[in-house]
Amino acid sequence: MRAEGHDRRQRLVDRLVQAGGFVSGTVLAEELGISRVAVWKHIRRLREAGYPVEVSADGYRLAVRRDGLLPEEIRAGLVTNDFGQSVAVVPVTASTNTLARAAAEDQAPHGHLVVAEEQTQGRGRQGRRWISPPGGLWVSLVLRDRLSVGELPLLAGAVGVAVAATLGRWGLRAQIKWPNDILVGGKKCGGILVELAGEADALAYIVVGIGLDVNVHPGERDPTLASSTTSLAVELGRPVDRRVLLQALLAELEQWCGAVRRAPGAILSAWRARDALRGRRIRLVQGDVALEGQAAGIADDGGLRLLLPNRTVITRWSGDVSVLDDQGPVGP
Ligand code: BTN
Repeated sequence: MRAEGHDRRQRLVDRLVQAGGFVSGTVLAEELGISRVAVWKHIRRLREAGYPVEVSADGYRLAVRRDGLLPEEIRAGLVTNDFGQSVAVVPVTASTNTLARAAAEDQAPHGHLVVAEEQTQGRGRQGRRWISPPGGLWVSLVLRDRLSVGELPLLAGAVGVAVAATLGRWGLRAQIKWPNDILVGGKKCGGILVELAGEADALAYIVVGIGLDVNVHPGERDPTLASSTTSLAVELGRPVDRRVLLQALLAELEQWCGAVRRAPGAILSAWRARDALRGRRIRLVQGDVALEGQAAGIADDGGLRLLLPNRTVITRWSGDVSVLDDQGPVGP
């Protein structure tokens, strides 16, 4: 069965991470109750999915740095039902969203989490690159609540609220720049990328990717953004324990993502209270079209309301916003 296959591969990854060195195929086969050939087939699937499993005469090894983001350490003390209970941690991958999509296709459960120490081809919104050096939190979650495409703007807002609420636990007052950039002191310290698969009215799965500049220096990711970005370590004046942060984030995410159907009004009021754009003069770019006006708040379905110079108010659900007035920075 495919789900069973996923569980076995998950156990293989956990076992290799825990070992920190080579484990022979015979030992793995005995522990998992399968043949050595089956072990090799699972390893091959893991390698195809981007896990850096090395193969030698001594067996198999997953190259991983031990610095607090091990699966068993993440799971220990996690107060969620689903989010992060199934977790894969890799030292380096192209993009955690790509790994999470592969896991979702491989029947990974609702709440499955992928964490990478480093990404080599991290993706940002609008097709941009997201440079992801060690020290940040680069994670993706698989969601299977069968939401519709129309519910995605609210989900994106719920994720933004969850991240902002998490930073609040560290004493940081985070704001959300629509759709879901995370700002502290007007500077960006996190971004969210939602990807999906399936039918528009009942999506088979959604991948929520979150990038947070935790112990990364502004400009380390992209020198051209040094003055408009920040990190949690810079804002707090000390490094942040990423494991504790991730556990808190998963608890907030489970609560807020679950509210999309249960309590959309709660998401909207939390979002509106943290809206970094309301009242600001902005430019919204959608492909070749640019609209200028005043940000007029978050619509009930999660769209951005824009007051145009002719006094009409329109709502838009996608695009890139830049701030035109000079009341201080709002993100890059
Ligand atoms: C943005 O452009 O603001 C969104 C950035 C999202 C980055 C995260 S890092 C983890 C996940 N994997 C990716 O490739 N992108 C997202």
